[in-house]
Amino acid sequence: MQQALYHPEHGYYSSGRASIGRRGDYFTSVSIGPLFGQLLAAQFAQMWERLDQIDNFVIVEQGAHHGDFARDVLGSARKGWPEFFAALCYRIVEPFPILQDRQSQTLAEYEGKIEWRDSIDALEPFTGVHFSNELLDAMPVHLICSRGPVAYATAGSQWNEKFVSCRNDQFAFVEQPIVDPALRAFITKLPSRPAGYKTEVNLAALDWIDNLATKLERGYALAIDYGHSRAEFYAHHRTNGTLQCRAQHRLFTSPFHEIGHADISAHVDWSSVAERAEAHGLHVGGFTDQHHFITGIISELAAPLEDADAKTKRALQTLLHPEILGRAFQVLALAKDVAASTAADSSFKQKNTLTTKNAGHKETGRRSSPRRADSTNRLSFEREAGRSTARDSCRSYRTTRRLQICAG
Ligand SMILES: C[S@@+](CC[C@H](N)C(=O)[O-])C[C@H]1O[C@@H](n2cnc3c(N)ncnc32)[C@H](O)[C@@H]1O
Repeated sequence: MQQALYHPEHGYYSSGRASIGRRGDYFTSVSIGPLFGQLLAAQFAQMWERLDQIDNFVIVEQGAHHGDFARDVLGSARKGWPEFFAALCYRIVEPFPILQDRQSQTLAEYEGKIEWRDSIDALEPFTGVHFSNELLDAMPVHLICSRGPVAYATAGSQWNEKFVSCRNDQFAFVEQPIVDPALRAFITKLPSRPAGYKTEVNLAALDWIDNLATKLERGYALAIDYGHSRAEFYAHHRTNGTLQCRAQHRLFTSPFHEIGHADISAHVDWSSVAERAEAHGLHVGGFTDQHHFITGIISELAAPLEDADAKTKRALQTLLHPEILGRAFQVLALAKDVAASTAADSSFKQKNTLTTKNAGHKETGRRSSPRRADSTNRLSFEREAGRSTARDSCRSYRTTRRLQICAG
């Protein structure tokens, strides 16, 4: 996955080939239009207020692709919150020169307002917010496969790691005992699973939070992505893990298909990310789905969206609707040195479902619907709408007052 996505010359992202949007490989909330960035600008302005309107409020964005989100945030802040705009500095963490070039073209009018760093390590300690949309799902994961409880009893570890080998000029998976010490430590937390059960471990996301925690002096980290609590991620029924590969809005079953021309991603184990953050003194300020997060922001807007044009209303519906992006995506807000009562701001007051302490592997005996077990959360052009959860989705859709504005 590391090579397929990030090989300096051939990687899907590092080569600049990744294409997001209607004519690309998949949608993200950013690619739906400027509304997502505009709404997040309101969230950032509120965070700035919570941090006493400091002069040097830093927004760090990581995974900025072509810079569209940054442009939407900065444009909205300049128009709607001029004092906030004057106080903010934008930093983009971008390791790939080709993407940095595209971002600086998109953001030409904000020259002086933005600086680039090629890694979190290269970032100065900051007060403000670190933001990412779909960064964590794009991090390379370790694939592991259970050998079954019997093998575990007789030969040490229940889990093998899957590596890529080449046989007769074809890539193929091979299983080997796990030797990576960090991975060995992680699997001790996993439940026993039958032979053949496949899943992923995202150690890169844990390294990421380790690094970020050392740079965030005060403020927030806001990560939006698709994922599950750990109990759900490693649930009994999820026998094939969450890895998915996609190009031109089509799903492929094999990650060896169209290498370097297709996206590969895995869902996020939110509990592990939150636990690691807590170990560094950050606390979970909120955890909710995108639907509730965005309706929370809208409920506080000075100028609500009722009068928005048809295009904006359609974009809002796409962002909010539980069967499109509203439920598939979750938002984790981590806070550091911000009073607990203010960290969980208005956007999260409706739902906070991530409990890291107990989010281990207690089997609930309740099986998620089959759709959720093997669903995909990249929004494709020909979207794979839910079936079995549609009734629940519609119920929560209708109970949200603000959503009625996009029904027409
Ligand atoms: C799925 S895309 C999301 C792009 C954009 N945030 C959006 O929502 O449209 C993931 C992005 O994360 C970037 N990325 C992956 N690892 C990164 C890292 N360590 N630092 C910065 N960007 C990274 C990739 O290059 C890619 O642009």
